Amino acid sequence: MTKDNNTAGRLPTPESLQVAGRKNLAELIRIRRHFHENPELGFEEINTGAQIADIMEGLGLEVQRNVAKTGVVALLKGGNPGKTVAVRADIDALPIQEHNDVPYKSKTPGKMHACGHDVHITAAIGTAMLLAEHRSTLAGNVKFIFQPAEETPGGAEPMIQAGVLENPKVDAIIGGHVWGSLDCGRIEVLPGPTMASSDIIRLTGHGKGGHAAQPHTTIDPVIIGSEIVGALQKIVSRQTDPTEAVVISICRFQAGDTFNVIPHSAYLEGSVRTLNNALRQELPQKIESIIRGITEPYGATYELDYTFSYPVTVNDAGVTESVRQSAVKIIGPDNVRTAQRASMGAEDFSYYLLQVPGTFIRVGSRNEAKGITHEMHHPQFDIDEDVLATLPAVYAQAALDLRNA
Ligand code: NI
Repeated sequence: MTKDNNTAGRLPTPESLQVAGRKNLAELIRIRRHFHENPELGFEEINTGAQIADIMEGLGLEVQRNVAKTGVVALLKGGNPGKTVAVRADIDALPIQEHNDVPYKSKTPGKMHACGHDVHITAAIGTAMLLAEHRSTLAGNVKFIFQPAEETPGGAEPMIQAGVLENPKVDAIIGGHVWGSLDCGRIEVLPGPTMASSDIIRLTGHGKGGHAAQPHTTIDPVIIGSEIVGALQKIVSRQTDPTEAVVISICRFQAGDTFNVIPHSAYLEGSVRTLNNALRQELPQKIESIIRGITEPYGATYELDYTFSYPVTVNDAGVTESVRQSAVKIIGPDNVRTAQRASMGAEDFSYYLLQVPGTFIRVGSRNEAKGITHEMHHPQFDIDEDVLATLPAVYAQAALDLRNA
């Protein structure tokens, strides 16, 4: 039993969160637009971090600034002991020139909140607004983690290393991402793997250059590289369980300078993704074995740089179900559904989930009637700001419920 007294109405009810969430909408739109107009890239979020910290201090939270360079942690300390639930928001923008013609268009050329992290910041602030006035009756804490550099190179790991999951120890963590293909007002949850791991292959192959007319005197890195690109797909089709998702995309193939010279070397770069952390560990060896098998007979050599980046985002089943039920209380059963499948996109929220149980939800932000149909990372990406009326209430309800889970 917690010391909360919900029946006496001291903690907010779903109904009161709905009403207060709607009431805060205009203020949250103003805040979101400010962040949207002033995007900053990963680990450069100096003003963003300072403004978040100021707002959270203004709400009476205990704030730590400059965590892992530009991150912010804000603690809403309950009046009674209990569990600590974390709400995570990423705060970085992308190096994209905004092509939206809106009054809140990015003021910084070449930079844009094209992944909706301005919304994530604002939703976390909105959650704090909903809960701050109830802190004296709250058993436990809600910790807001504003994390830099989700897009690249990754801010979650340095935030964890800086101790954000300790003091007080986080018992459960929630986060979410606006979802350009999901209608505003809807939320999708998914227990288990929900987003892919994302690792990077960088391969330099060395052959022997020469005249295009005398290929027999060369070791042609273009031919060898082409064979590798094709053969790597056979890992996907023939060396891994067909029911396990694997993506190997070679996205960069650079070689040569002109039409009649076979080059000395070629460079390949690509992305490797899967939804299974054990399978993920096996892929570098499979990939290298293909590369070795193709280069050696030709007498070519290679250097392979295989970088593990974000792990698979694996949602905890119990936390996911709890958050699903919380979301139903706020937006109704018709608007909350279990996603049909995982996304092969990646998220560094995965690092938190390696440490504490949690869940990462998809938050609908599309509105065709308003012309808001572009996907994340598009120069015309935008969101239906109505999402800011409900998402903070969903987070607040989820945080309240998870303290008792
Ligand atoms: Ni994003």
